[in-house]
Amino acid sequence: MEILQLISQDHGIVKALFERLERRAAEPGPETESLVAELVTEILLHTKAEERALYRPLQTKGSSLKDFALEGHVEHKLLEIAVKRLSVVPPGADGKFKAVLKVAKELFVHHAVEEEEAEVFPKVRELFSPEEREALGERMATIKTELRKIKSTVVPGPAPASETARPITPEEAGSPSAAGAVPSRAPESIPAAVVPAPSAGKSREENLPGAAPQSEELRRAV
Ligand SMILES: [Fe+2]
Ligand SMILES: [Fe+2]
Repeated sequence: MEILQLISQDHGIVKALFERLERRAAEPGPETESLVAELVTEILLHTKAEERALYRPLQTKGSSLKDFALEGHVEHKLLEIAVKRLSVVPPGADGKFKAVLKVAKELFVHHAVEEEEAEVFPKVRELFSPEEREALGERMATIKTELRKIKSTVVPGPAPASETARPITPEEAGSPSAAGAVPSRAPESIPAAVVPAPSAGKSREENLPGAAPQSEELRRAV
């Protein structure tokens, strides 16, 4: 899939999760916890893969988007912090969960919709040919798949729901399966402990500007 299509698809998934959570902001329980965990997972997979598949080539290509790539990384971090807060602030009538959700969604809309989709996408189309964008998309999809596998390998199952009131550690991260199962807790990060063996031949995306071998990419994953 072409990389801008893949990014748009990811943004749509995240936007839908935000909207579902907005409807449950005052309703504690396993369903809301699962939605929070799914949102955190989807955002982490997206931001890590997007940085490696797109931001890095933008930085090394000497393009006008170099500054955006650097700022985008900071915005990703702020977004990750905000959504992770959702797993420690219980939904309820006091409005605290709703407030965190609102801020997280605003960060997402500003970064993903107002900046990436409206301003960055047209410039990426100028910088990369359709073939290059297709290869970048393959690269991003592969990174996402590998990160999802790594995450499900590190933690085999969800933690008890009773533990959701305290901050969580990387070792306690949630565990969606490759088939898309939803963990009951939000992951703190996507660990890079498990790295697949590099393939014998280079795929075509490895010839793109700024591209590193896949195994190297994953070693650098947060
Ligand atoms: Fe982004
Ligand atoms: Fe994005």
